Amino acid sequence: TNMFMFDPGFTSTASCESKITFIDGEKGQLYYRGYPIEQLAEYSDYLETCYLLIYGELPDAVEKQKFELGVLRHNMVHEQLTWFFRGFRRDAHPMSMMVGVVGALAAFYQDSLDINNPDHRRIAEYRMIAKMPTLAAMCYRYSKGLPFNYPRNSLSYTGNFMHMMFAKPTEDYVVNPVLERALDRIFILHADHEQNASTSTVRLAGSSGANPFACIAAGIACLWGPAHGGANEAVLKMLDEIGDVSRVEEFMQGVKEKRYRLMGFGHRVYKNMDPRAKIMKQTCDEVLNELGLQDSPKFKLAMALEKIALEDSYFVERKLYPNVDFYSGIVLSALGIPVAMFTVLFALARTVGWVSHWHEMIADPNQKIGRPRQLYTGSGRRDYLSVDKR
Ligand code: CMC
Repeated sequence: TNMFMFDPGFTSTASCESKITFIDGEKGQLYYRGYPIEQLAEYSDYLETCYLLIYGELPDAVEKQKFELGVLRHNMVHEQLTWFFRGFRRDAHPMSMMVGVVGALAAFYQDSLDINNPDHRRIAEYRMIAKMPTLAAMCYRYSKGLPFNYPRNSLSYTGNFMHMMFAKPTEDYVVNPVLERALDRIFILHADHEQNASTSTVRLAGSSGANPFACIAAGIACLWGPAHGGANEAVLKMLDEIGDVSRVEEFMQGVKEKRYRLMGFGHRVYKNMDPRAKIMKQTCDEVLNELGLQDSPKFKLAMALEKIALEDSYFVERKLYPNVDFYSGIVLSALGIPVAMFTVLFALARTVGWVSHWHEMIADPNQKIGRPRQLYTGSGRRDYLSVDKR
């Protein structure tokens, strides 16, 4: 008989070698290409972090500018895609639109589908990084019945996204630098996280030789789930359900009785503190101050939950700390981004991680198709009975 290692949920299986991201779960540390996430969040910007993840090094000034221009030139989408959007119901969840339109990119950009051609691979990567903000903003505008905004190349990657989301055709839109920086930081913090479920999905899909647009669409589908990228959305829903600080105690009782989970808490790898959460909490303070929302009931409620969870033995014993999505949900909502768009923004930011892992895998000469085995626990051999004998 065949012997397999049985590891449901892959809690102790390394599925690949990778040079991109290192997590020390015990110490609560995260590094992109060796750089601590704290330094990147403080000093870098999202596009520079993209360069770092893809190429493995920080760019010099010339490389940085070339990369920025290289990405910018791909930020429009084929005009025919606007018709693809129009096929959706207006009340469709934006993630359902994202899964569809990103998968459909393969139909529009057929000159970057040859995965054995390094030039095709690069163009596909640039295209995906460049087009995600455009597509994400289109989802939002479509669901609101608003006209699509074309990208503005005079703005930063993140400023341009805010413009495409919020600019009214009848007014000038001015990007608030504090909010732009906060959103850029959210993108940096979500850019990669080694072999999480969606990245593993992208790798598995890519291992069969599927085109990169299809692989990223698979990643988006996986990210949608509430235990993964859907968590920041779930945090806001939870806050709405609790409604008021006076009901926190009662809610926590339900968590302890395992009727539901405290969303935005716990992590498979971080059993100490999610380092992204620390940075996000600080950004959260900055944004709420900038917008004068420090005393908003939602924020106070979130802080009450955080306080109990950090002190209560149920959470302490299980090493359940706030994760990045506990705070990012609050920041995004303060930025005026609707809850249904939260996971879309996560997908936007994670796209660079997905393409970096996809590229690393495809470029590896020893790459094999991913093909896990199983422990069969079904029926033994038996003979077919015609329907009148069953
Ligand atoms: N609230 C209450 N109890 C929890 C929670 C929670 N959020 N998370 C874990 N537990 C308990 C769980 O009931 C179990 O208790 P016991 O040992 O008594 O059975 C124990 O903690 C271990 O839980 P687990 O499910 O075995 O842990 P896991 O490593 O499989 O799960 C997780 C990790 C993130 C799926 C889980 O903590 C969770 O569901 N959290 C809420 C959703 C969330 O915030 N997800 C975002 C993750 S960060 C962003 C991302 O990477 O996508």
